Amino acid sequence: MKGLQLLATGGALPGRVVTNEDLRRQVDTSDEWITTRTGIRQRYYCAENEDAATLAIAAARQALARSGLTAADIACCVVATLSSPTATPSVACRVQAALGLPENRPALDVNAACSGFIYAAATAHGLLTTLGGRYALVIGCEALSRMMDPTDRTTCVLFGDGAGAAIFELAENTPFVVTLGARGSEAIRAGGPAACDTAPITMDGKAVFRFAVEAMPRCLQTVLDRSQKTQADLDWVVCHQANSRIIDHCIKHLHAEPPKFYKNMNRHGNTSAASIPIALHEMEESGLLRPGQTLACIGFGGGLTWGGMLLTYEGRK
Ligand code: UT7
Repeated sequence: MKGLQLLATGGALPGRVVTNEDLRRQVDTSDEWITTRTGIRQRYYCAENEDAATLAIAAARQALARSGLTAADIACCVVATLSSPTATPSVACRVQAALGLPENRPALDVNAACSGFIYAAATAHGLLTTLGGRYALVIGCEALSRMMDPTDRTTCVLFGDGAGAAIFELAENTPFVVTLGARGSEAIRAGGPAACDTAPITMDGKAVFRFAVEAMPRCLQTVLDRSQKTQADLDWVVCHQANSRIIDHCIKHLHAEPPKFYKNMNRHGNTSAASIPIALHEMEESGLLRPGQTLACIGFGGGLTWGGMLLTYEGRK
């Protein structure tokens, strides 16, 4: 089977930085509480003229430029988001128009909350395999600040906005290993029938924490078992960045090597579907990703959903 190789990434962060200190002035919280419970120190919020789609377009432009490909090479565009500014057009269709992607190719949004990027990459793999084509544009983007109750300290300190984009190539002799799952639950809930802002995000934090510390190591182990690899074969594990303690639990449970687990929630907070591609982009930018490296990406979150996949980083064409 042909698998996905990561060729290039892009990223976009909105203009407004919000520190724990800023939030302390807004709700009854403290930098100490937020940092010790979550590892988060700051997050970015969209300015008036920004939303999940503007961020997605900026990240996608950068990924395409870095890949050395042109818009005509992109066979499908799949966007993971739960905070599209409009139900339709989808963010993916807005990206199609902005980047001038050919019209005879699919463009669609996928909502699997914080597992969204894994679901989107798996969807792109399926589209490339069934429709033909070699390169896919896969994006994770969120404007969660638009969906939060700024007076609810149990959620407003956690989430942030941003976007990450990836160009994948469907390549021979590359394993395709993915695991996806779902368990319908209202443990995390956002949005209403008419508009997102009618029902801000609520979360049963403790229940989600218990779910996450079970789902994350299980997903990683499934990816390793299915690819017949061990932890030693992995160069990086890129997990959804919800909470530093959840990643630490996973490391402990699997007796894993902490330096392989990339963490950036201190700078971004929890950006749901955007967190994994933002991490990939940062890693590429800072030279941590080298051609030929093997990565496992693990997502978990609202739905409830979970997903894991094995990736090879190839670098630009
Ligand atoms: O991306 C989707 C996946 N989401 C997640 O993975 C989130 C998973 N859950 C978590 O990360 C953690 O459960 C939280 C970080 C959300 C909360 O941490 P916790 O250790 O589970 O805290 P808690 O909810 O049990 O709250 C402990 C105390 C409570 O006070 P009492 O009842 O002990 O008096 C809360 O009211 O902390 C209080 N609290 C706060 N205090 C200061 C809750 N939020 C805050 C806050 N600042 N922002």
